[in-house]
Amino acid sequence: MWPDDRLANLLGIEHPIIQAPMAGASTPEMAAAVANSGCLGSLGCALMSPEQYQQTFNATRALTNGALNMNFFCHAEPGDDEDRNKRAVASLQPFYDELDLGEMPDAKPVHFPFDMEMAEAVIATNPAVVSFHFGLPDADIVERLKETGLTILSSATTAAEARDLAARGCDAIIAQGWEAGGHHGYYLEGNDAAVGTMALVPQLVDEVDVPVIAAGGIADGRGIAASFALGAAGVQIGTAFLTTRETGIPPVHQEVLLKSQGSDTATTRAFSGRPARGVINRYIREMMAEEMNLPDFPIMNTLSGPLRKTSGAAGSPDFVAMWSGQAVGLNRQSDVTSLVKRLISETEIVFRKLGNEI
Ligand SMILES: Cc1cc2nc3c(=O)[nH]c(=O)nc-3n(C[C@H](O)[C@H](O)[C@H](O)COP(=O)(O)O)c2cc1C
Repeated sequence: MWPDDRLANLLGIEHPIIQAPMAGASTPEMAAAVANSGCLGSLGCALMSPEQYQQTFNATRALTNGALNMNFFCHAEPGDDEDRNKRAVASLQPFYDELDLGEMPDAKPVHFPFDMEMAEAVIATNPAVVSFHFGLPDADIVERLKETGLTILSSATTAAEARDLAARGCDAIIAQGWEAGGHHGYYLEGNDAAVGTMALVPQLVDEVDVPVIAAGGIADGRGIAASFALGAAGVQIGTAFLTTRETGIPPVHQEVLLKSQGSDTATTRAFSGRPARGVINRYIREMMAEEMNLPDFPIMNTLSGPLRKTSGAAGSPDFVAMWSGQAVGLNRQSDVTSLVKRLISETEIVFRKLGNEI
């Protein structure tokens, strides 16, 4: 049924649909159910140590023999700006006092960019695919991954990033539009541009020879069919999976998503130091004035971590990073297998209506 089989062939899957890797939200059960449905199941591993990675991979592999994608961050090391750190600590202190959280952690990163040690851990587990957000690792690491036969993906938010990723060995490129939930994957200087998926996908298709994967605001068969019409060879979908039985997000985040619309979301730097899209809540609103004064990613993640965790556990939306894309109004409660089946059958109906002319 698919008008383009390049991505499915590259990834060894039946349907060119990728469940987005979502650090803190994707689970072994989610990725395995997607892989068992003939699509690419992904795990967001950016916050894991090599040991945690190994355990998570094994837990997933125990549930599926299908294609898996393990995902990591390649962010630049943060600067150490004492003034910004102090200012952020002062802004967060009233919230810490209100939630009785005790001492704030030191303003230091607690998760790190992908390195050779993690590359060796990935190679030892041999997933089909390894993907990255915020660019690619250094050339020697890319070379090492590629010589073992791993397929490499990364996100581009502009034509310049797509060209750069293709030149550095990416096998397919995710065109991540501004509608997308979670972190905006831009990484080239000055590229924090707000290009939507509809405009971005055909421009990247014209820019690079490798398959382009559309991401951002895709949540049903209409969005998937539209992506193929724009020249994409596949789609990557995140937010729609957040309200499945297999989700890793707290119940309060799920409840909020089920009653939200795209207009309830905004991008904010307040949780991590980098722009990411989520449902607007008290924390985003009250930190708005500080947006441009925060410590670099991921230092801000360290500082906001206890607030996010405690708020989620207490069932309050006030301080949770409720990541969400603009298509959130289409979210339904489901399980992963039913969601994937629905996405495929809806797409087939749209293709048929259009007479397979895409
Ligand atoms: C909760 C959440 C967490 C995310 N975490 C990651 C991540 O760890 N790595 C990554 O490459 N992308 C991450 N993303 C972005 C997705 O890969 C993808 O670009 C996005 O979900 C697509 O837009 P949609 O949410 O509108 O479907 C995340 C998205 C969400 C919603």
